[in-house]
Amino acid sequence: MPQVDYSLYLVTDSTPAILGDRDLVEVVEAALEGGVTLVQYRDKVSDTGLLVSTARKLHAVTKKHNVPLLINDRVDVALAIGCEGVHIGQDDLELSAARKLLGKDAIIGVTVSSIEEAVAACKDGADYLGVGTMFATGTKTNTKDIIGTAGTKSILSAISDLGKDVRTVSIGGINASTLQRVLYQSSAPTKSLDGVAVVSAIIAAQDPKKAASELLFLVKTPPPFAAASLANTSKSTTAVDLIKQVPSVIKDVGEKMPLSHNMTNLVVQNFAANVALAVGGSPIMANYGEEAADLSKLGGALVINMGTVTPDGLLNYSKALKAYNLAGGPVVFDPVGGGATAVRRAAVKTLLAAGYFDVIKGNEGEIKTVFGTVVQQRGVDSGASTSTAFEKATLVRDLAARERNVVVMTGAVDFVSDGERTFAVSNGHELLGRITGSGCVLGTTISIMAAVCKGDKLLSALAGLLHYEIAAEIASERADVKGPGTFVPALIDELYNLQKATSEGNVKWLEKAKVEAVDFS
Ligand SMILES: *[C@@H]1O[C@H](CO)[C@@H](O)[C@H](O)[C@H]1NC(C)=O
Ligand SMILES: *[C@@H]1O[C@H](CO)[C@@H](O)[C@H](O)[C@H]1NC(C)=O
Ligand SMILES: *[C@@H]1O[C@H](CO)[C@@H](O)[C@H](O)[C@H]1NC(C)=O
Ligand SMILES: *[C@@H]1O[C@H](CO)[C@@H](O)[C@H](O)[C@H]1NC(C)=O
Repeated sequence: MPQVDYSLYLVTDSTPAILGDRDLVEVVEAALEGGVTLVQYRDKVSDTGLLVSTARKLHAVTKKHNVPLLINDRVDVALAIGCEGVHIGQDDLELSAARKLLGKDAIIGVTVSSIEEAVAACKDGADYLGVGTMFATGTKTNTKDIIGTAGTKSILSAISDLGKDVRTVSIGGINASTLQRVLYQSSAPTKSLDGVAVVSAIIAAQDPKKAASELLFLVKTPPPFAAASLANTSKSTTAVDLIKQVPSVIKDVGEKMPLSHNMTNLVVQNFAANVALAVGGSPIMANYGEEAADLSKLGGALVINMGTVTPDGLLNYSKALKAYNLAGGPVVFDPVGGGATAVRRAAVKTLLAAGYFDVIKGNEGEIKTVFGTVVQQRGVDSGASTSTAFEKATLVRDLAARERNVVVMTGAVDFVSDGERTFAVSNGHELLGRITGSGCVLGTTISIMAAVCKGDKLLSALAGLLHYEIAAEIASERADVKGPGTFVPALIDELYNLQKATSEGNVKWLEKAKVEAVDFS
């Protein structure tokens, strides 16, 4: 049997809400013309006679396009029409029984939503797994099965160890706006999804052929926010090499003056705008989500700061996040006080499901919240830590690997990781903890670096950290700095001075950098 192409897997739905008054066979044929690579006929309500006659018509068109047809659940229907296989759910006929009836060449897929189910299906001889549910959908409201990209990734990791060549597709509410991120973020180091299964994104589309060809294009193309990083095959791995690259990032900022588009947090607006200007960026404050589509095209970066959360604000953030993801503009997430209240914890979840964050920056409590560890934060302050440096580094690395992005955890020692490279940064000054908004403006600084350094997000975060924290060290040593009040203007001065010096080729300040790779062995 020829290799099955799982790239774009169409699952049919004949309910009027999805199909409308159109003819299913015609819709499927249009989708095949658009490039669908596999079709599953799914109909839970029609009686057997109608199932068989529709399946037979569908098989005629799939054969014409050389695409396998699978039947949902009904092995008898598959046998009756002689199609290529079946797809079975957890409550359907057992895999071994289906195999016995259909033979070894049939394609048999199984729906799984946990590691246990996935491992069992692989051992029982499934050809592929439909892994989900990715997102809640109107038709499937069983939220317990919503596993997202993180759950999908853990399933992929678990089955990659079994040494069986079982293919995987993600299913559940995937459409053109989420597809690339689903493939990118679900990917485990040793196993990636082979494709996506879609229902309404094609069946309910006005033009199923066009929808299919657009989706297929998206499957084959890296997401805009990851393209530069994926293409960079010469990323530095050591602290020394990365530090050597920092001046070129800062210099680039000076030349390009990237936009730092800020959303929210009214507490430190003025300070953040001054910092953005001092490090060489152009600040813009715009909380209205509709504006983001235009702003995202200006080559800058977005900072989403959860300083204040309202349902209205969340909608605006989600809109802006999607716009920047689409334009490939970096987005920095600052989950301020993420663990403080139930509302904030829910907001963190909503935002993580709404789009891709290139960088997540927070203190220990905030990073723990984003990871999903239950923490009770007092206000937005970091509070005392009970974790060891190794535990913090591990958490940062694991979150970055899960989200496939860069995570920065601030503290007396900062940790930064992209899931593969993890560094401890011991720069900064105690006075930074005595002024309001110092963490927030670090987010602004990193966003500005990220805008000019898409080829290595970890490098951009490191450049932002070093620029900001070494400026703080230099400022704190100035004779005119007597405490937090005089520190703030001095910090802004020194951020500016470092930008200027670096642009003129003077990088002596970087000798102060204290960056060390974390050894996990
Ligand atoms: C795409 O899917 C997501 C997640 O299910 C949903 O929130 C969004 O509204 C969908 N977009 C379109 C255009 O249907
Ligand atoms: C790749 O990453 C390195 C740093 O790790 C950086 O110096 C270089 O500019 C990046 N290359 C591209 C093409 O982005
Ligand atoms: C910029 O973003 C920071 C968060 O990083 C936020 O606190 C501040 O209010 C924003 N201000 C401006 C002027 O953009
Ligand atoms: C979000 O955008 C709406 C317009 O849709 C605007 O009226 C509102 O002020 C914004 N909310 C926040 C919290 O920024």
